Amino acid sequence: MRISSFAILAALLSGPALAQDAQAPSGDIKNGEKHYISDGCYQCHGMGANGAALTGPRLARTELPYDAFATQLRHPSSDMPPYEVAIVPDKIVADLYAYVKSRPDYQPAKSIPLIMGMGVK
Ligand code: HEC
Repeated sequence: MRISSFAILAALLSGPALAQDAQAPSGDIKNGEKHYISDGCYQCHGMGANGAALTGPRLARTELPYDAFATQLRHPSSDMPPYEVAIVPDKIVADLYAYVKSRPDYQPAKSIPLIMGMGVK
């Protein structure tokens, strides 16, 4: 999986870790979830924002500061399509950020009842 050097640089330039979340606008998790689906994020980053090896990195529990998250949407570092303000207004970016921050960490396959019994150990 490619590491987004732009996102890392943006994270490094945006100040101490403790100050990062304090700068994030408050977002509506439920509305963020709605837009995560309707704006197509799930198609590359997975339904639970846990990422998909070939299409997009994990977003759940992202450690990106809000500014780096927003910059990635407006000016993606590589293959991701850009989301201009006319398509995804700033308020929705804040909601999307709140949603992915709220997602649980990666769950091992054996903790997912739906796929138990399919040879998962
Ligand atoms: C067509 C596939 C695709 C879609 C749709 C997509 N992304 Fe991405 N995203 C990527 C890829 C690939 C990367 C890796 C960096 C790059 O290519 O810009 C990425 C990177 C990111 C990152 C940086 C992650 C990190 O830790 O560096 C964020 C944040 C992000 N995407 C959020 C979103 C959100 C929110 C949406 C929906 C509004 C979305 N993406 C839609 C493919 C996609």
